[in-house]
Amino acid sequence: MHNHRRLPLWGAFVLLGFTALTAGIQAQTTLTRDNGAPVGDNQNSQTAGPEGPTLLQDAQLVEKLQHFGRERIPERVVHARGTGAHGEFVSAGNFSDLTSAALFSAPGKKTPVFVRFSTVIHPSGSPETLRDPRGFATKFYTEHGNWDLVGNDLPVFFIRDAIKFPDMVHSLKPSPITNQQDPNRYFDFFSHVPEATHMLTWVYTDNGTPASYRTMDGFGVHAFKFVNAKGEVHYVKFHWKSEQGIKNLDAKQAEMVQGKDFNNLTHDLYDAIADKNYPKWDLYVQVLKPEDLAKFPFDPLDATKVWPNVPEVKLGTMTLDRAPQNFFQETEEAAFAPVRMVPGIEASEDRLLQGRLFSYVDTQTYRLGVNNQQLPINRPLASAKNYNQDGMMNAGSTNSDVNYQPSETQGAYADDARYKASRLPLSGTTQQERIRRTMNFQQAGDLYRSLSAMDKDHLISNLAGDLGQVKSTKVRDTMLSYFYKADTDYGTRLSKAVGADPATIERLARAL
Ligand code: HEM
Repeated sequence: MHNHRRLPLWGAFVLLGFTALTAGIQAQTTLTRDNGAPVGDNQNSQTAGPEGPTLLQDAQLVEKLQHFGRERIPERVVHARGTGAHGEFVSAGNFSDLTSAALFSAPGKKTPVFVRFSTVIHPSGSPETLRDPRGFATKFYTEHGNWDLVGNDLPVFFIRDAIKFPDMVHSLKPSPITNQQDPNRYFDFFSHVPEATHMLTWVYTDNGTPASYRTMDGFGVHAFKFVNAKGEVHYVKFHWKSEQGIKNLDAKQAEMVQGKDFNNLTHDLYDAIADKNYPKWDLYVQVLKPEDLAKFPFDPLDATKVWPNVPEVKLGTMTLDRAPQNFFQETEEAAFAPVRMVPGIEASEDRLLQGRLFSYVDTQTYRLGVNNQQLPINRPLASAKNYNQDGMMNAGSTNSDVNYQPSETQGAYADDARYKASRLPLSGTTQQERIRRTMNFQQAGDLYRSLSAMDKDHLISNLAGDLGQVKSTKVRDTMLSYFYKADTDYGTRLSKAVGADPATIERLARAL
């Protein structure tokens, strides 16, 4: 049947090749429509004679206009502006005492990766110089399926419960009235979220404007679980350390760069790869035993906290050495989701992470469709074998009569008890309460005190620039009291910079 079909096509190509040859364009390939049919004229529409209207029967004209009108897909609701690169992760050892994840099972073991870096709040096509955390999402194509480590360039986050994420993003996105970002709106929100003080301090340092995606670190932010073959659990936090070192722009430099090239971060990454100056990151992990979680003055599963003084173990090194050939197919269609883990890596009970486990696949089903994992950039190395079926744009090639499980049929897919999830002991009632150990300000203060004099100056001036625009004295002073509570010098300098009364701020801070 295949041969039968091929013959006339083959004949057509000979004929076309001959025509092309006689027309003197033998070096080029004949243009076709989406159905593969050759196009005779792509310069002039079919018209009713020299003076008449255009004909609807011009299939090439109609197809081009229809396809063009559908070129856009919804942009990511956050992290819309990004750029990606392919590369490889090499394990530094055998970490099977900690995790059964295959990619960490032997020194020198190689796993292909794709990384997408991004800004967070600003839309697709916005300047890459604007203040924002940066996304650092890595897809590891492992032999046990894809593991997505969907992190950021800063070690903590603004909120600790997923239920606040839509509100936070609404406050940071442009106003629904003016379509402009407005510090009055997001500080109104953050004045109710004291746990954001730590992350706000990070974002308003020059880390909010990295000089290059190559010169920033990456963090998993949440605690995850490493589980070994015996079912033993450790809580871990991931950290990508840039071998290029950390380099940021200060506010003046960022403005200057923006005037010259607002695609500076994408340019920088593509240029470095073209120059064979391949960027590298070492992946480290901090490890805690479950019984250690109770020993901290804060909740170690709270995404607004770092784990100070917990040693880091180096797991391996990643090199990015290949730019995508097509931005849309390899970067826009990439779908990263924290829920995509592999045996040996599991989610912790972090309330922010738990919401993320749902949200990404849900939004990608809308943004890219239910079969987005069949797209080449998302497809696992070993093909998926299950009975999820059909749906829009299914491009699979299943040919079995069995689409249910379990089945006695030879070759049917069966679950394997070696890959069961770990167990978590639990007791108590359902509840809706904030976490017990909040410690909202200590680590923001520790961060402030660790900064150089210049970094402190930049932080104060960056933050005062936005806080100074807030019209509500209540919102502004509440924010100031948080920074004052974190560190007296920090709060006092900020209060002076925005013209607030330091005595009022001190009184508010004392009540926290
Ligand atoms: C409950 C909190 C959060 C929710 C509900 C959430 C939700 C989302 C959604 C809906 C997207 C768009 C995904 C897509 O269209 O493909 C996204 C992208 C992203 N998020 Fe989150 N997010 C949360 C917190 C975080 C945190 C804490 C981090 C960092 C640790 C993070 C890092 C990222 C990154 C890097 C991307 C872009 C992935 C890419 O390059 O395609 N998010 N997030």
